Amino acid sequence: MRKFLSVLSVLILGAQVAGAPPLAMAASSGMELLQNRCASCHNLTGPAPSTLPVLWARKGPDMFYAGNKYRKDWLVAWLTHPTRIRPAGMFYADHLKPGPERDVVDPSTLAPHMALSPSDARLAAEALMTLRAHDDLIAKENIPPGSISKSMGALVFDKFLGCIACHRVSPDYGGLSGPELYTAGQRLDPRFMASYIRSPQAWDPKIWMPNKHVSDSRIVQLVHYLQALSKGGSHE
Ligand code: HEC
Ligand code: HEC
Repeated sequence: MRKFLSVLSVLILGAQVAGAPPLAMAASSGMELLQNRCASCHNLTGPAPSTLPVLWARKGPDMFYAGNKYRKDWLVAWLTHPTRIRPAGMFYADHLKPGPERDVVDPSTLAPHMALSPSDARLAAEALMTLRAHDDLIAKENIPPGSISKSMGALVFDKFLGCIACHRVSPDYGGLSGPELYTAGQRLDPRFMASYIRSPQAWDPKIWMPNKHVSDSRIVQLVHYLQALSKGGSHE
């Protein structure tokens, strides 16, 4: 039976590729998977939301520049074992409730992300990496390798620039209205981080992250800091 099935699948595969190289087939079935199982929540084609109501109603992050944004190995790992990235969901105001001192997340309003099988995760990641609407913005960035102490990085991130108001730098420290950044170094291309910090609105015209006109040298420090955070260790 098994043998019969594998012979059959070879025949079917053979019929499908008919002259096309196997890689092209993987990409197109990955794209089909995205269309069928992801497009209801993720924008695969652009453009980004052009009004606030559209932005606030968004069901998942935009994916039409996924290939400019993510690290592929992270995509495959996360899609098989998703963890929460935005502590209060896509639009934080929909998922907060009053707490004793300040608003807190209401987890009962947040649904876990679907998990994919390892083979679907690979197909999806490969297809996502072909979506590169913002090669232009990435080409402008260059982050030299280097490092910064966590204490100096925290000073820049928390005190000088106030990024901590919206972003968490550990699971229990930082704001709720933006994605957590303690895994950003594993998740994101360093040039994407640099470009997004330089101009969030170049990526997402209506997003509430302010353009703080961060200097080139501070951008490099911030990216090195975010890379240091995802390497673990204590928050000194
Ligand atoms: C029901 C809506 C929904 C569907 C369907 C869905 N997603 Fe998501 N996705 C979300 C939400 C909401 C988030 C944000 C999760 C968070 O921040 O914790 C997300 C986050 C992600 C992320 C992390 C991105 C980031 O920058 O934070 C990836 C990658 C992703 N989804 C891929 C996929 C793929 C691939 C599929 C289809 C196989 C899919 N999603 C199907 C709603 C959805
Ligand atoms: C007022 C809130 C706010 C402030 C202040 C803020 N951000 Fe953001 N940030 C956001 C939001 C919202 C997003 C994108 C949300 C999304 O994709 O769902 C974002 C996205 C990012 C990203 C991309 C993360 C990802 O997973 O897509 C980086 C990197 C980042 N911010 C760094 C910073 C740095 C560095 C500062 C300080 C200079 C800062 N942010 C200040 C709200 C903020």
